Amino acid sequence: MGIELNFGVMNILVIGSGGREHTLTWKMAQSGRCDKLFVAPGNAGTAEIAENVDLSVTDFEGIKKLVLEKDIQLVVVGPEVPLVAGIVDFFKADAKLKKVGIIGPDSKGALLEGSKDFSKDFMMKYGVPSAFSKTFTKETLEEGKTYIENQKGPYVLKADGLAAGKGVIITEDVNEAKNTLHEMLAEAKFGDASSKVLIEQYLEGIELSVFVLTDGKNYVILPEAKDYKRIGEGDTGLNTGGMGAVSPVPFADEAYLKKVEEKVVKPTLEGLQKEGIHYVGFIFIGLMNNNGEPSVIEYNVRMGDPETQVVFPRIQTDVVRLFKAAAEGKLDKIKLKVSPNTAVTTVTVAGGYPEAYKKGHKMEIPVSTKDKLVFHAGTTQKEEQIVTNGGRVMAFTGMAKTLNAAVKKSQSMARKVKYNGKYFRKDIGQDLLALIQK
Ligand code: AMP
Ligand code: GLY
Repeated sequence: MGIELNFGVMNILVIGSGGREHTLTWKMAQSGRCDKLFVAPGNAGTAEIAENVDLSVTDFEGIKKLVLEKDIQLVVVGPEVPLVAGIVDFFKADAKLKKVGIIGPDSKGALLEGSKDFSKDFMMKYGVPSAFSKTFTKETLEEGKTYIENQKGPYVLKADGLAAGKGVIITEDVNEAKNTLHEMLAEAKFGDASSKVLIEQYLEGIELSVFVLTDGKNYVILPEAKDYKRIGEGDTGLNTGGMGAVSPVPFADEAYLKKVEEKVVKPTLEGLQKEGIHYVGFIFIGLMNNNGEPSVIEYNVRMGDPETQVVFPRIQTDVVRLFKAAAEGKLDKIKLKVSPNTAVTTVTVAGGYPEAYKKGHKMEIPVSTKDKLVFHAGTTQKEEQIVTNGGRVMAFTGMAKTLNAAVKKSQSMARKVKYNGKYFRKDIGQDLLALIQK
């Protein structure tokens, strides 16, 4: 194995600037197949191991110039925005760029995340288990209100388009649900993203994130993870991009993951092929586990953040080889090797996040070690000083044989980092510890 996959060394570009991109960059930097590594735009962490290039993730012409000038052969797209905006279509339509390997779907494939209405229709058409839902527009607003009145709560309202993780509203209160529907449709609460709204059946259970990397034909299932989305301990308060993550997830045993593969992963990939979508890249499947039965909450067309910070440290296969194989339709040649250890990440955020927060606070960051990994998210270098530059500032991943030990390592690093207004959740992994101690 691997003889046909002798790719040689190459220059690589990572697009994005968060903890996910720092982790992917860190992992690829360890590969013998990685020559020069660029990140656009990157953060203070990626600057230590790669060359940051100050380009917006949707500046396709700027990215083209960089790729050609630096002879880049592999591009890994971190966030969804450039994918939905068509970066892969742009590469495929350009005579000079079309040979460059790019990890991410084209804009049609990216609709799995870019339009919840599209992804719901897709799931129904291809028999992927998910919550029942109905879609309403401005024209059918009154019908939507009546529909809500005839349902039992909690009510789940979802903006169709990308809304930076804020487009899902869940409420027990029927009037609040009706008002929210009104705001979304009649007052464009999320702009164009809420010109269609899905009202979805509420699902009970524990959430799980499953990650697939596909080359359009073959696929590998990456380690699964659990994310902690709310700002407050005990899963309270506002939704965030993610406050921590754990991998592996104790309830996701082999039998359960097999069920996910058969009932969700295979029909999803078959559906994409039947739709004529040549999908190369990650599919992040957000699931609700209800009494051992998986139901899809959402698809994302990228890796999760902060899930990447626990998934990739566990991957022992050379990831440059893995990504290049995906870009060239050769994933059948790869056997994924995964560490049995547990990874736990704790995200430290800016005071006030996910609402208004300040940037530019000076930081003191503990040193990364083999089992206490330091990933930057919202940071930047200002003169000689690293300062905060976003809502989610850092992620600290602890690696250990047990969940308990990994939690302790991650939390000890989150306690050590210093900047004004620092906040982090102290309960990452505690629910899973309680589950395995039962
Ligand atoms: P999404 O942006 O689709 O990931 O939704 C944000 C969060 O809302 C999810 O992580 C779930 O916690 C919750 N959620 C979404 N859809 C449902 C549903 N049908 N039932 C219960 N919770 C949901
Ligand atoms: N952590 C959730 C996400 O990346 O969407």
